[in-house]
Amino acid sequence: MRLILAACLATLLSLPAAAGEGDAASGEEIFMRFCKQCHIPIPGDPLTAPDLSGVVGRPVAAEQGYRYSDAFLARREEGMIWTEENLDAFLRHPRDFIPGSIMVFKGVRRGSHRDDLIAFLKALEPRSGSGTASD
Ligand code: HEC
Repeated sequence: MRLILAACLATLLSLPAAAGEGDAASGEEIFMRFCKQCHIPIPGDPLTAPDLSGVVGRPVAAEQGYRYSDAFLARREEGMIWTEENLDAFLRHPRDFIPGSIMVFKGVRRGSHRDDLIAFLKALEPRSGSGTASD
């Protein structure tokens, strides 16, 4: 029984083929579990947290109509962009990377999980598009 469980876990947690190349499907599962309570991956509902569609490559704090923390606004002033590296560092430990952020989330420890999440975020259509990364 243990062995079967271990085998299943190993499959579930198996690493993507290349380092830094995440698996968007697995990223979606992680997103639904840890991020969706605040970030709705549907355009146009910026009440709780900013819309993340099109976030990869976008300037920090670019969602119109969302009230970001001063810490985020300061990063935007500095011209910071959500590159994959910045996203990885932010998701690892949000309040270490941007002290003063109002995103109350302790972070995603596992690097492969962050890769998967970023792959999922990349797959989301930008806001002007028709919307969600549905299946
Ligand atoms: C408790 C609610 C909450 C959870 C859970 C949460 N976030 Fe956030 N997130 C926020 C808020 C609020 C902000 C805006 C932060 C600020 O202004 O300081 C934000 C900002 C962001 C940004 C920057 C957006 C921009 O426009 O600059 C990204 C990227 C992000 N979150 C990704 C994630 C991911 C991925 C997860 C899941 C692993 C997650 N968040 C979980 C509330 C949350």
